[in-house]
Amino acid sequence: MCGIVGYLGNSNTKEILLNGLKELEYRGYDSAGIAILDNGAFYSNKAIGKLHNLEEKTEAFNSKGFSLGIGHTRWATHGKPTEQNAHPHYGTDTYIVHNGIIENYQELKSELEKGGVRFNSQTDTEVFVHLFEFYQKSLGNYEAFQKTLKRVEGAYAILLITKNSETIYFAKEGSPLMLGLKDDEKFFASSDAAVLGLCNDVHFFEDGEFGYVDAKGFHIESSESKDIAFQHASLADDKISAQKEGYRFFMEKEIYEQSDVLADTLRGRVLDSGISLQELDGEFLDGINEIKLCACGTSYNSALVSSYLLERQAKVRCSVEIASEFRYKEPLLLKDTLFVVISQSGETADTLEALKMAKKAGLKTLAICNVDNSSIVRLADKSILTRAGVEKGVASTKAFATQVAVLWMFTLFIAQQKSTLTKDELKQELKTLRAIPKAAIVKDELHEKVKRLSKRYLHGHGFFFIGRDLFYPLALEGALKLKEISYLHAEGYPSGEMKHGPIALADPELFTIALLSENILFEKTKSNMEELGARDSTMCCVSSHFYDKADDFIKLTKYDHYMLEFYEMMVATQLLSMEIAVRLENDVDMPRNLAKSVTVE
Ligand code: F6R
Repeated sequence: MCGIVGYLGNSNTKEILLNGLKELEYRGYDSAGIAILDNGAFYSNKAIGKLHNLEEKTEAFNSKGFSLGIGHTRWATHGKPTEQNAHPHYGTDTYIVHNGIIENYQELKSELEKGGVRFNSQTDTEVFVHLFEFYQKSLGNYEAFQKTLKRVEGAYAILLITKNSETIYFAKEGSPLMLGLKDDEKFFASSDAAVLGLCNDVHFFEDGEFGYVDAKGFHIESSESKDIAFQHASLADDKISAQKEGYRFFMEKEIYEQSDVLADTLRGRVLDSGISLQELDGEFLDGINEIKLCACGTSYNSALVSSYLLERQAKVRCSVEIASEFRYKEPLLLKDTLFVVISQSGETADTLEALKMAKKAGLKTLAICNVDNSSIVRLADKSILTRAGVEKGVASTKAFATQVAVLWMFTLFIAQQKSTLTKDELKQELKTLRAIPKAAIVKDELHEKVKRLSKRYLHGHGFFFIGRDLFYPLALEGALKLKEISYLHAEGYPSGEMKHGPIALADPELFTIALLSENILFEKTKSNMEELGARDSTMCCVSSHFYDKADDFIKLTKYDHYMLEFYEMMVATQLLSMEIAVRLENDVDMPRNLAKSVTVE
């Protein structure tokens, strides 16, 4: 949710922290702050709003020679997004940045308050720093840090600095954190985006690891091992592709990129002989009779798409769960079920916890994820990477496109193992799969058309995106995109369900975006559209088949396979949301109230 960075070395600490935070800003951006220990004195500053506010406030400060510092970009969980609640939090001589939630903070806070401690913020984080300073009175710094860790419950990635020592203390439990080394310099970050190009020798901390770094070196341990070896993992240099490259927004760039990243997703996996998923080789799928897919948000929508494919093509029983619901419903978990989690970031708390539950119940687990080395990838038995590259727009686009592609490959992989498709059918599916990068190309005419007609869809009392079969989850995704960046009310509905209640809302101020497939349930969807049209709903039809009763028509290419229609329709709905948000002058890449990676429950 939040982003954290840390640095120790001889370079300009402030610049390194601010540049790192800039790379992480998409994770949370209601406030930011830094604290630097420079020649025995602390410099600290915080600012609400986007990072440039902090940059302006810290303009006059620059460290010289050796120094160390920590930084944080916040997405509020406990306490409003104010300067006081922004990190780093401080005691008398100690600063801390924290990502996650300290669940027992109320109890610890009361205890500290009884002892006379006064709190500066409403956050859960602040208890850590006061508790540390309390133990520091009778113990050495590291012992006090460890003792504090023993008292806190919840999820955290923590960096702490204290005045009497040129050391950064760290701990990780449930929230991501990594340490990078380059010569004598040490870099901390909650995600590799912050340190790309600065170091290439890194350690991704596991849950339960803690320790410290100083000018002499580093120490990592856990309750199980007193001396944990540095992993020496390396990072891909992805920085250039993470720039906007001339597009107005990251979201726009990412929509245009979808064709290329889909080609990457398929590379080496779609062969003439069939689907090759080396990740699943061997006996992994033996004995599996059911698949349970579990995810949140956009990733949930891609899971729902694949539930249609898995039952239709691979003939495997399939259910889809929203992770935050799954966690508390006391689900029946049977050992012949494969548990599949889908996540762009690999850090979503609800999905991660659901995965832990499935593992605990002894199920085989598979992660479909965009971020290698993420918590979800590291926890699952097997993982298939979606290869979408860094996604910076908060509203997910290319991650969704690649998730659906991987899930479709996964479906066909099972179909070929179980021979649920004939040889000819499989061949046809493989041919279509290879054609999806082309179907996802953004055509100039399409973008121009969507741009022009978006002006009709700025006011009104709401949107319904409707579709049938796997165009229903696409309708859900279309509505989610629009909500996220336009702040307009939108719902996705199965077309056939409208008459069971929602159609009561129909009038000219209700906008219907109808996803009309020519390959699946064409006549049925058309009838549902007519029912809405008869009640005067303003309608935009997205289809390759001209529908003369709609107020607007977005013309798509005629295809003979619904998955190709699916990908072109996906692009059209993404563009529509983006162009509406642009006309409303909203922040397309960083919409209000959202965060890229939701690492709290
Ligand atoms: C929507 C969006 C969110 C995420 C959801 C799950 O555009 O980005 O709905 O899909 O928070 O995130 P991941 O996929 O990282 O687990």
